[in-house]
Amino acid sequence: MNKEEAKKRIDILKKEINYHRYQYHVLDKLDISDAAFDSLKNELEELELQWPDLVTADSPTQRVGGEPLDKFKKVQHEEPMLSLNDAFGEEEIKAWEERVQKIAPHAKFDYFCELKLDGLAVSLVYKSGTLFRGATRGDGKVGEDITQNLRTIQSIPLLLRCPEEKELAGIGLSSQQVKNIIAAVSGGQIEVRGEAIMTQKVFNELNKKYKKAGRALLANSRNGAAGSLRQLDPKITAQRRLSFYAYALMADLGLNRHEQEHLVMRAMGFPTFTDDNKKYAHFCSDIQEVIKFHSYWAGHRDKLPFGCDGVVVAIDDKALHSKLGVVGKAPRWMQAYKFSGEEATTVVEDIILQIGRTGILTPVAVLRPVSVGGVIVSRATLHNEDEIKRLGLKIGDTVVVQRAGDVIPDILRVFSKMRTGQEKDFLMPRLCPMCGGAVEKRLIGSGQEAKSAGYFCANKNCFAVNRRALSHFVSKPAMNIDGLGPKIIEQLLQEGLIRDAADIYDLTEGDLTPLARFADKSAKNVIESISQSRQVPLARFINALGVLHVGEETARDLANHFGSIEKLSQAKQEDLANIDNIGSVVAQSLVSWFAETKNKKLLARLLKAVKIEKPNIAKKKQIFKEMTFVLTGELASFSRDQAKEIIREHGGDVSSSVSAKTSLVVAGEAPGSKYDKAKKLGVKIISEEEFKELIK
Ligand code: IVH
Repeated sequence: MNKEEAKKRIDILKKEINYHRYQYHVLDKLDISDAAFDSLKNELEELELQWPDLVTADSPTQRVGGEPLDKFKKVQHEEPMLSLNDAFGEEEIKAWEERVQKIAPHAKFDYFCELKLDGLAVSLVYKSGTLFRGATRGDGKVGEDITQNLRTIQSIPLLLRCPEEKELAGIGLSSQQVKNIIAAVSGGQIEVRGEAIMTQKVFNELNKKYKKAGRALLANSRNGAAGSLRQLDPKITAQRRLSFYAYALMADLGLNRHEQEHLVMRAMGFPTFTDDNKKYAHFCSDIQEVIKFHSYWAGHRDKLPFGCDGVVVAIDDKALHSKLGVVGKAPRWMQAYKFSGEEATTVVEDIILQIGRTGILTPVAVLRPVSVGGVIVSRATLHNEDEIKRLGLKIGDTVVVQRAGDVIPDILRVFSKMRTGQEKDFLMPRLCPMCGGAVEKRLIGSGQEAKSAGYFCANKNCFAVNRRALSHFVSKPAMNIDGLGPKIIEQLLQEGLIRDAADIYDLTEGDLTPLARFADKSAKNVIESISQSRQVPLARFINALGVLHVGEETARDLANHFGSIEKLSQAKQEDLANIDNIGSVVAQSLVSWFAETKNKKLLARLLKAVKIEKPNIAKKKQIFKEMTFVLTGELASFSRDQAKEIIREHGGDVSSSVSAKTSLVVAGEAPGSKYDKAKKLGVKIISEEEFKELIK
């Protein structure tokens, strides 16, 4: 192939790749397999390698490139990036309508509503159709140039799509408007603004991975998005798999309606919410319809694949935008109609420390009790010392707390202007508040971004650590000993009846009956349950040991890999680090655990007391090898956990969400949205009966 032919082929490949990007990220259509898509990209990459001077900035191969920066450059926005005034509840949104109606009494008001995403506002400037610069909002006037990072987001086009005239006419545009758009895409400058977000799925996957590797966790998906875009190395941003939705078109193209702007951005290759299937945007002919749209999503926000804190309501007629103008820093023609109830303000009365089974000390905020979304909360997690610093939190501060689902609430922000001067700084103690032993600061995690400081009680005999470690030891996913709750463990420790996990197996009925909490029968039951736990699958036994960074899943991976506790205990750091899903931090933690004399003695005593079942991975036919399953609905013959176990025993993986990579969806009674998603993506769905046939 000569250079001219190479150039032709490169152009064709780029067009094809861009087309599929648009189909997938904008139209949500899967029209090509991952393998075929990668193959097109590989061919392009190879040609570009051979002809480096044919590489252009808008090539799909150039998303992750460039050296890490020292710092971000400042960028002046051509038009200020405004913010929105909030409306809470029906009354406030109606009051807003009344205010604007007073300014334009004869106008007909209709509204374009779309979901308000919880991410980071960004501006994208295109020159002659090519992405020229991407920036953060900053203070609204001056932001930071994060072009390198924004380029890594697959749903942001590097090159604008040139819509066909017919297509634009189809959305009701005049021939002049069509001309303006085509001229702007091919020759002029346009700016698109929107929200960069981390989807819930990516957030969960990353945190699962970070947890396994013992790295600092992302506090929530919004921080995930913001933190990823503030990375100086675009390679790190690329790993965070962010998404983008466009919500504003900053170019005078003679359009009359706000909704049209969204349709035009979509035609230019940006994901927008003007997609009928998802119903994330809606044209409303009056305020009652706006209220209905808001109330629908207030009730369904948990089902959304991203964080969402309300609805953005815009007056659709652009002629009214200039008439209504801007008040302060917010346009008068737009409101953030927020969802209520999931946030509340309260006072942090104290910061206490919780101790984990590994001795890690986690700060927890004690709140003046407050109702958040109908639930009274009195504690919020602070994750670690870095989080307290990031929030700038002092004891006595007034804060905003947020509750998302069933998790412990988070503190979102501190009202530092409300301080009285009585607030106190929180300092990590030098001595463990539970046992008085020394506290040690250790770095958790590895790699450029992951390190965060963790504080540990270094006293191997710390009462509180033992209590947690023993509670973990007897828990269901570990030794599964019924009847030994935290209170009883505490009593057994206090009475000196147990000091470590192996002592549990020396307990007799006679030891228990005299204790306050035991009647003869319950003592008998506990001893029976201890005895039953003597036969234990290897994975659960490994989990029970409570090694730092080794949870249920890692324990299963280790059990399947080594097949016996002896082999695992002798494994070297490099053997461990070479196993899929096991990082160097986990490997190091295991090696040090097995090297410690105290643990060696404990293990030897435990091995005398229990009989470990080898993983039966080899016994079952690996019929589900390299297959990923998703379970939805209620199964009649198995619990969720049993079904997962069966799939794993047969070599398969189980995922919580459906994607193009899902091999099979098993649908029980009343399947949920995963069923619909599978149908849409064309993923095979089988019934519980069919699943049973497969494993017969
Ligand atoms: S419209 C005038 N539409 O909300 C600026 N904003 O509270 C508003 N946001 O900084 C632009 N989703 O980052 C708009 N669908 C959406 C949005 C949205 C999230 C953010 C935006 C802005 C903030 C204002």
